[in-house]
Amino acid sequence: MFPLVAVGKAIVLGSIAVALVVTVAAGCGSGSSPEVGAGPDGTPDPVLVAGRAVYVDRCSSCHDADGSGTGDGPRLNRGRLLQAYSDPAGAVAVVAEGRDRMPAFGGVLTADEIDAVLRYINEVL
Ligand code: HEC
Repeated sequence: MFPLVAVGKAIVLGSIAVALVVTVAAGCGSGSSPEVGAGPDGTPDPVLVAGRAVYVDRCSSCHDADGSGTGDGPRLNRGRLLQAYSDPAGAVAVVAEGRDRMPAFGGVLTADEIDAVLRYINEVL
């Protein structure tokens, strides 16, 4: 009898711990960056998926998970970059070289990663 009760208590405590961890993780920032939807061939474009990973890792802290901006970085989503840069090379240059409080990522990200993250911003956010 006793051991069974102990096991039961451990399971209940374990579930509470898991629930707490999940709640805390979900409460970080203002949510997670949108996933890449399936393309015409039924699977997500791998370049956009790679771009999302870069965005989540390196950009969302200042530009927010959905690109709507924070006190540390301006809004990038809903066509903002396409509006601001008729030539995509302009946005690439800002990311590679940095500008003002925007850090330079030229030494950290490859040209392909910069292209991928900008595609994710323009096509998904
Ligand atoms: C430490 C905070 C920070 C991080 C991290 C950051 N940015 Fe920025 N970003 C800024 C700030 C601040 C500006 C505005 C710079 C200015 O005023 O000239 C900016 C501007 C930009 C712009 C130009 C926007 C415009 O309207 O002209 C682009 C594009 C951009 N960021 C993309 C990115 C990408 C892509 C990443 C991730 C690889 C990233 N940023 C990571 C802070 C950040």
